[in-house]
Amino acid sequence: MRDEMMPRTAVEDLIAGMSLDEKIGQLNLLPAGEGLVTGASQPTSLSKRLDAGQVGAIFGTKSLASARAMQERALAGSRLGIPLFFAEDVIHGHRTVFPLNIALACSWDMRLIERTAAFAAAEAAAEGLHQVYGPMIDISRDPRWGRVAEGPGEDALLASRIAAAATRGFQGAGHGAAGRVAACLKHFVAYGAPQSGRDYDNVSMSAEDLLETYLPPFAAGIAAGAASVMVAFNAVNKLPMHANGPLIEGWLRGQQGFDGLVVSDYTGVKELVAHGMGPAPVAVARALHAGVDMDMVGEDYLRELPALVRDGLDAPDAGFSLSAQRLSALVDRACRRVLTFKQRLGLLDDPFRGLGGTPRAPSRSSGRKLARKAAAQSAVLLKNDGLLPLAPGTKVALIGPFATDRANMLGTWAVSGRAEDVVPLDKAIAALTSHAPATAWGANVVDEPWLEQRLNVHGTTVTRDRRSKARQLAEAVALAHSADVIVAAVGEAKEHAGESSSRLTPDLPASQRRLIAALARTGKPLVVVVFAGRPLAIGEVAAQADALLYAWHGGVGGPEGVADLIFGAAEPSGRLAVSLPRHPGEAPLTYACDTTGRPGNDRFTKFLTGWLDLPDDLPTFPFGFGLGYSDISYAAPRLSRDAVRADETVELRITIQNAGTRPAVETVQLYASDPIARVTRPGRKLIDFKQCSLAPGQRRTVTFQISSDQFRYPVAPTLETAEWVRDPGLIRLHVGPNCRDTQMKELTWLT
Ligand code: NOJ
Repeated sequence: MRDEMMPRTAVEDLIAGMSLDEKIGQLNLLPAGEGLVTGASQPTSLSKRLDAGQVGAIFGTKSLASARAMQERALAGSRLGIPLFFAEDVIHGHRTVFPLNIALACSWDMRLIERTAAFAAAEAAAEGLHQVYGPMIDISRDPRWGRVAEGPGEDALLASRIAAAATRGFQGAGHGAAGRVAACLKHFVAYGAPQSGRDYDNVSMSAEDLLETYLPPFAAGIAAGAASVMVAFNAVNKLPMHANGPLIEGWLRGQQGFDGLVVSDYTGVKELVAHGMGPAPVAVARALHAGVDMDMVGEDYLRELPALVRDGLDAPDAGFSLSAQRLSALVDRACRRVLTFKQRLGLLDDPFRGLGGTPRAPSRSSGRKLARKAAAQSAVLLKNDGLLPLAPGTKVALIGPFATDRANMLGTWAVSGRAEDVVPLDKAIAALTSHAPATAWGANVVDEPWLEQRLNVHGTTVTRDRRSKARQLAEAVALAHSADVIVAAVGEAKEHAGESSSRLTPDLPASQRRLIAALARTGKPLVVVVFAGRPLAIGEVAAQADALLYAWHGGVGGPEGVADLIFGAAEPSGRLAVSLPRHPGEAPLTYACDTTGRPGNDRFTKFLTGWLDLPDDLPTFPFGFGLGYSDISYAAPRLSRDAVRADETVELRITIQNAGTRPAVETVQLYASDPIARVTRPGRKLIDFKQCSLAPGQRRTVTFQISSDQFRYPVAPTLETAEWVRDPGLIRLHVGPNCRDTQMKELTWLT
């Protein structure tokens, strides 16, 4: 529904009676004050603004009582009784913290993702929240970028399905549904592709990549009905997103038909000044003109818009001018969108909607159960030389800085989570097996005191064993000798990943690598469990371990999920949603890169696309990869026809069998490549996947319906002139358990 088609009554009546200041007040989005400060500016006093009717919405209220109190104050301060709405960063769970989004993505299970979002929505709604700043759907192919943790991984199709599933989970049947919240897709757009992986840095990319890789998750979220969108901090192709009219008003609203609310990111409007887009009045006019409806934290709309609407803007030095009349119309446009958002949430009919304490939050025990299941489904088994699962009676030496850790398991952006809700790995193993493992520290989370200090500025979770490294290691090795099996719990701190936490070298700290090498030398069977917020280069460790489980930061049920997997109470089914680098220097990295004229391979060969100094014996863990405890065999794929017209569909069928003795969940992945096209194309691109469970011995046939639309690609001299084309001719289909280990079928599309 477009602006001009909106129900006129309540919103238009309100607008007709509002003063300019009242309208501008609606565009002001402020923090409650106790939340995370994620920018340079400190918020101003909230109560002063509420009393003056100068706030449209608040984020980070933290309790139902404080939200109610703020609503009462806002209503008293508003001549027309316009209510606030309340928002929060609900990224991977609310009070019940689920695995990081990058971990949930590795489940490839859309029902699970929808359920976790719905659970988080129910908890958030019970606290009086109307909107959440999620799902975060930034594709990222750079393990250096700290916010990989929050996102859906590297692939456009997987991320698009996740965007839709999470949006459905948050919003339920529609805007304003009881016990649900409005979703906010973020960060629009290409925030996950900053130069050198540095957070907030700018992005230069082809319009083709933007259209084919970074925009589709937003299109999918909008198609699923997402009520709002948050704009990204970065510039895309020289135009900061907070001033990017072609992408916001053009692509998002114009081409996708999005008619919801667009909010800035934290002080994002103000930051246009630092971007070099002009002084504050120009920055404000640009942002409003580009389609940013609400200004988060910076209050620049509040400060600058009255004079702008009075006098208009003529800034030849910035190459930007707008008449007073146009600016007034833009204020009306933004205000109309804010009020329409409130109307859709039911707040114009009942300002205390959602603030009455019903429906109540779902039971925490059901949340814990879901969190534990989600953690087990999100961990990816990368290697298993027949060691796992362990028998419950196995004498385990649990070694490493995460053996007894709670706080880091929550991961980044868990603003309402509590470390005490986490059952740490030692206790999880003890509860599952009735044997408490002997534990030792062995190595630190960070090696460098200066880095420890820097991380602790952002939190308090990086604790350090102050004994000498030699003593820590000696104790760990002695303990290892006394056990049947070593479980090494290693990884990153939660502050290592997340906002403003980019890393030059995405690998394990040196002391943890030394620990693993020393443990491997004991000759005892070695299970390595990696708790991390990003894909780390762990090739070396993989070579030393007998079994390797990539468990991410798994939330309140994280360690229990790991214990379930290690002891076979759950079956590993996670598949990588992001490629693991072999070496930190490989970043950025994706399976789906365009083919070059000199395709590389894993071996050292000169004059091919590759690296001279990449050791050739490091194992690769490609996108889509993951093991289970059973063997799944793939029969040869069959196509219903091998030549079809563009308006027909074709079926690819493949029979898989669980040849092992344990139940399994298999994710069958279908990729395509287009060997002859108008522009360079990815060597492989995921076009569909299906997940199915298989009892021991069971055989199932998986069918993919394929249409020529799946092979459309953009040819885009510019974003505005982009054309999605579909060429006749040869397509190669690759089907298998991951992007590398596939079987190929050729298909010809006839004209
Ligand atoms: C900055 C982050 O980029 C964004 O994701 C978050 O929603 C806001 N801060 C509000 O906390």
